[in-house]
Amino acid sequence: TDGSTGATEEAMSGDETIAIGFSQVGAESGWRAANTKSIQDTLTAENGFDLSFSDAQQKQENQIQAIRSYIAQGVDVIAFSPVVETGWDPVLQEAKSAGIPVILTDRAVDSEDDTLYESFIGSDFVLEGEMAGEWAAEQYDGEGYKVVELQGTTGSAPAIDRKEGFGSAIEGTDLEIIDSQTGNFTRTEGKQVMEGFLQKYDDIDLVFAHNDDMGLGAIEAIEAAGLTPGEDIKIITIDAVKDGMTALSEGKINYIVECNPLLGPDLAEIAQKVVAGEEVEKRIVVKDEAFDQEAATEALPTREY
Ligand code: AHR
Repeated sequence: TDGSTGATEEAMSGDETIAIGFSQVGAESGWRAANTKSIQDTLTAENGFDLSFSDAQQKQENQIQAIRSYIAQGVDVIAFSPVVETGWDPVLQEAKSAGIPVILTDRAVDSEDDTLYESFIGSDFVLEGEMAGEWAAEQYDGEGYKVVELQGTTGSAPAIDRKEGFGSAIEGTDLEIIDSQTGNFTRTEGKQVMEGFLQKYDDIDLVFAHNDDMGLGAIEAIEAAGLTPGEDIKIITIDAVKDGMTALSEGKINYIVECNPLLGPDLAEIAQKVVAGEEVEKRIVVKDEAFDQEAATEALPTREY
């Protein structure tokens, strides 16, 4: 599905209110803010939901605590975006034993038992990394190019998968990842890590940032070092939120692969179906595009997030 609003109108016609507990990763990025808004704007009383929402501040223990409290409340459905991939089986087993269905949004869990959740709605992060890597490889054919990578939160699905996708797409090319560190998906940490890279290396050609916010932090560090982002050092990011797209249209970022945060409507629809006992797809892949400067300039005026 395309994750656009309106997709769920039909699914929202049930008369029973659905109590849903949602444990969000945090408020680390522009993407996350748009994702939270989409969920809160869709899972409304008007649409038949009673939403309990909690922000885990990027900590797994907070998410586990939130999920346990939703189980204790006896909600109809639990949904969450897992901050990291591993370590979920015990709490998911508790939900299952309590008969409460779980829906994953945005990020996957690494579990051998896929009966622990009903459905996983989100982008294909490996593909996003590949799209970024393919663009980088096309730009830099013929010469050796030095890449630094700003990774997302250590152990999170998007950081693992985007790294893997990018790495496989540049394999056998002249691009070389000379350093790779986590900036935790935040602007502040992206800036700090980039400052460190700039002190260590004077020959960086390209930054691959796992999200727009870290890329925007890198821009600040590059400018503070007296260099021109987008020219002296090229930048590729993932997300395509407004601030990122604005920087792309100004030429400070060179390419962005989208990650669509508007997951609320799909989540509402799947929650309705799960509660009604209907079959749902185990994996719902959200489609993403990619933007260069021209495409970003064109898309910006009507961009929802
Ligand atoms: O899980 C999606 C990622 O999380 C987004 O790409 C990033 O901006 C967010 O923090």
